[in-house]
Amino acid sequence: MNLEELNDIALAMVAPGKGILAADESTGTIKKRFDSIGVESTEELRRAYREMLFTAPGMEQYISGVIMYDETIRQSAADGTPFPQLLQKLGVVPGIKVDTGAKDLALCPGEKITEGLDGLRERLAEYYELGARFAKWRAVITIGEDIPSNTCIETNAHALARYAALCQEANIVPIVEPEVLMDADNTIEECYEVTAHTLKTVFDELYKQNVALEGIVLKPNMVIAGKKCPTQAEPEQVAEMTVACLTNHVPASVPGIAFLSGGQSDELATLHLALMNEMGPHPWELTFSYGRALQAAALKAWGGKKENVEAAQKAFLHRAKCNGAAHDGTYTPDMEKVA
Ligand code: 13P
Repeated sequence: MNLEELNDIALAMVAPGKGILAADESTGTIKKRFDSIGVESTEELRRAYREMLFTAPGMEQYISGVIMYDETIRQSAADGTPFPQLLQKLGVVPGIKVDTGAKDLALCPGEKITEGLDGLRERLAEYYELGARFAKWRAVITIGEDIPSNTCIETNAHALARYAALCQEANIVPIVEPEVLMDADNTIEECYEVTAHTLKTVFDELYKQNVALEGIVLKPNMVIAGKKCPTQAEPEQVAEMTVACLTNHVPASVPGIAFLSGGQSDELATLHLALMNEMGPHPWELTFSYGRALQAAALKAWGGKKENVEAAQKAFLHRAKCNGAAHDGTYTPDMEKVA
């Protein structure tokens, strides 16, 4: 492990004014996204869609890194340039999702455990050769009646730390992603409690397994009420409670925190990030690693058609620019009108 190198990559991933594009939807998930726009999910269309995003002119001003899926990291642009090299040339760090998905956790009804540790050392070595310099592993914590259980939080934290240690051994920066889902009817206070417990457990495990915090990026959920909760908190409260939770549980040696969007609307995900950065300075960079909140508008504008590529790129660049500004503290809701 070369900690200086890992730290440099982590800092580049959370550089001021920039954030990470999560374009690592598995074949199953991207099919769902394509279904929503009535487009068939073929390998060529998935490639064309990713090329549209990666070649959006000037995206490198706002995008520091891209998380790819196994299929994508092996694909190329129409001119034959492999995607990892295309990104490298732009100064965008190529990344790779390495977990193999969240499966049912045995004897814990309603809960998930993320798999993918077997053979991970060998897979990481191959991804490094292909150009990946960071990786992602997503653990899923579900809020419900009597859950999450300690079993679920502890087993997922243990797996996250095992993954992170293997990444650092391979000189790949691990994005550590413990996602507390926002789909239930829980209050924002419940989300705070569960997120706090989860983060504490994750950092305990990272410590136990010798993971160097200077060489990771944390990808948490925001502290927010569940989608089905009748009382939704104001954006200011989401920002305040999220920053409080992170301040209490994330060591200052972590270079950066890049949030997932988790099903928030595009504009709300941006506003929350902007409000948190306005409350700074913080010990870590606070930025985005959005999937849906960066891509939804572009996906719709694209619709699977070549003639829409320019319009789709424009929609993607607009969200990227707004989120870059939210990281910088220069975002104003007026920016949304210019679109
Ligand atoms: P969303 O921003 O759509 O939640 O996706 C981010 C991600 O990479 C989840 O693992």
